[in-house]
Amino acid sequence: MEDSYGREIDYLRLSLTDRCDFRCRYCMPEDGIKKLPQEEILSYEEIVKLVRAATQLGIKKVRLTGGEPLTRKDLPGLVRMINEIEGIKDLSMTTNASRLSEFADELAEAGLDRVNISLDSMDPEIFSEITRGGDLYSVLSGIKAAKNAGLKPVKLNSVIMKGINESEILPLVEFAVREDIALRFIELMPMGEASNGTLEPLPLDAVKRIVAEEWTLEKDSGPEGNGPAEYYRVTRKEEAGTIGFIFPISRTFCENCNRIRVTAQGNIRPCLARDEEYKLRVNEDTTIKELARQLSKVIRKKPYGHRWEEERETAGEMSEIGG
Ligand code: 5AD
Ligand code: SF4
Repeated sequence: MEDSYGREIDYLRLSLTDRCDFRCRYCMPEDGIKKLPQEEILSYEEIVKLVRAATQLGIKKVRLTGGEPLTRKDLPGLVRMINEIEGIKDLSMTTNASRLSEFADELAEAGLDRVNISLDSMDPEIFSEITRGGDLYSVLSGIKAAKNAGLKPVKLNSVIMKGINESEILPLVEFAVREDIALRFIELMPMGEASNGTLEPLPLDAVKRIVAEEWTLEKDSGPEGNGPAEYYRVTRKEEAGTIGFIFPISRTFCENCNRIRVTAQGNIRPCLARDEEYKLRVNEDTTIKELARQLSKVIRKKPYGHRWEEERETAGEMSEIGG
């Protein structure tokens, strides 16, 4: 359905959990967050009902996010149930890939179409420092497993922070080109952990300049998907690949925003960057029609966009909202 600014909302991002086996500096505090008690997290039955209701309003694409979706039990079971819902044309997941080598085949078989994987460094020490203990090699084998399982296209997300992983820009591009994967640089957004001033984003224009030291960049349409990225074909002698830049702060992509989010506790969040959330009222007896009514009410209230250019930060933690 359309929101009040005429934007067609057809994309639902579902955060399945606030838990994660990593503690990325821009996403979670060092000692983790107070975990939501299990009973406050939407059950798979509630999620499936919610997605059914969403398809009645014209939602066609669903992304599973977190936290880390693979920390939830029997994720392939949920994927299978969502995949069976009529009207869902694209089912994807954002993951840190640490456990993907174990689950990629099963997820693909259950009907997951594709994955976006976070990767901020090709150096095991820097990787471990950013993720506070994550193992780069488990992620690299997760990426391989996703490709082998036919989850297509695999995309990579990288956040570059001043003084932390600038040195990783060129190695990440090289890896992505070699593996034939689209890599997207995302500008650090001032949310949750990343809003207290200890982490400084490296502006994407600076990232682009570093890439251009080694590679020739030409504007390109990029792989399929809904993302607001600006894509380039990169070439160097015989090598060629695709990289993208996602400019959440410096360029407003709000005018084309097609999405709503549901947090792990079942709050409907019409805009990532604004703290407004609406509690979903759902239990075994709630009808699909009633859920569709709740969702459409929130879509109608979707605000135009963020206020980061006015230096208003966003309090919500990325690990609960799901990016
Ligand atoms: N700014 C930009 N990107 C972020 N992510 C998490 N927190 C932030 C932030 N503050 C990214 C992760 C992951 C995706 C879900 O969101 O890198 O790829
Ligand atoms: Fe959409 Fe809000 Fe993000 Fe803008 S800031 S793109 S309106 S979610």
